[in-house]
Amino acid sequence: MTRFFKESVEDFRSVVDLLHSGELVALPTETVYGLAGDALRPNVVRKIFEVKMRPFIDPLIVHIANYGQVEEIAEPPRELDLLAESFWPGPLTVVLPKKAKVPDLVTAGLPSVGIRMPSHSYIRKVLQQSGLFLAAPSANPFGYLSPTRAVHVTNSFGPKVPHIVDGGNCKHGIESTILGLLNPNEPVLLRPGPIAREKLEAILGRQINIPCKGFEEYGEVNQIAPGNLKKHYSPSTPMDLFPNGSSAPQTFKASKTPTALVFYQRKKETPANEHCFWLTEDGDPKVAAPKLFALLRNLDGRNYDRICVEMAPPEGLGATINDRLLRAAAK
Ligand code: TXA
Ligand code: MG
Repeated sequence: MTRFFKESVEDFRSVVDLLHSGELVALPTETVYGLAGDALRPNVVRKIFEVKMRPFIDPLIVHIANYGQVEEIAEPPRELDLLAESFWPGPLTVVLPKKAKVPDLVTAGLPSVGIRMPSHSYIRKVLQQSGLFLAAPSANPFGYLSPTRAVHVTNSFGPKVPHIVDGGNCKHGIESTILGLLNPNEPVLLRPGPIAREKLEAILGRQINIPCKGFEEYGEVNQIAPGNLKKHYSPSTPMDLFPNGSSAPQTFKASKTPTALVFYQRKKETPANEHCFWLTEDGDPKVAAPKLFALLRNLDGRNYDRICVEMAPPEGLGATINDRLLRAAAK
């Protein structure tokens, strides 16, 4: 039986006890729900991979409560001070040279570790009071859409994840931005996320590259961050995309079988039928992002033959939404 924990003092204590005893707990963060366990115990970390059916070549992010903890597990460059001041706690993960304390299983054998200080009050309190380093990938089966509500976790895993903290809807609804800082003179955007690349560039005062051949220090190119794989974050129903601002593709109009049609923004000419949906009324990507995965999961459960989605305008957070849409729709 799955137990949903609430924010009460007793439940909070149980959650901390479970994590201390080596159990996994699904926890809310400001990005997506994470499947958390003690990062320093290889047998706990192994369980995370097994439950998610995640290949062992895909490293996990380690979550921390305070800046001082970085030095215990990694070698931070000076540049991290600036980034942490602006973006931590928050949806930024940095990849740094790791120290021996971090089990190789966590980092998939890489000499680097991904670290994030989340801002969601629940996981922050768990990190502070437990004193643990928590490994927490998104709490979804490998390759599927990330969970942005507690019920998504139980829908995907059933009794395989019996401990879930219900912290409501995730604020950002999209996984953290990942920045590679193994060479601080050449920072690399390993995964776009809620914090736009331009914001990071402004703080660092230098350009941030997109990974490509030549960044082997982060692993084989396609293995760098499987969040970077061409196909990832995908529903089971086939998805097609159409450009922002254009009308629904002819194939949709001609289709006899039911297709779900998702507009980025509701428009005057949006057809009024039960197979039409939209992410925003006014086009604000901050409103669209937290709804995206929940809507795709919902439609994935409804026997549609296809889901047809309008892309976001490609600026700022819109670019991150499009990144996830392209991966979800990749064939
Ligand atoms: O917002 C988030 O980051 C969420 C919440 C729960 O914190 N977590 C999350 O974890 O998205 P996950 O495991 O689903 O995605 C983490 C990505 C993976 O694609 C992994 O390959 C990459 O981070 N990653 C982790 N450590 C890395 C490293 N040392 N080098 C390169 N990529 C790394
Ligand atoms: Mg994930």
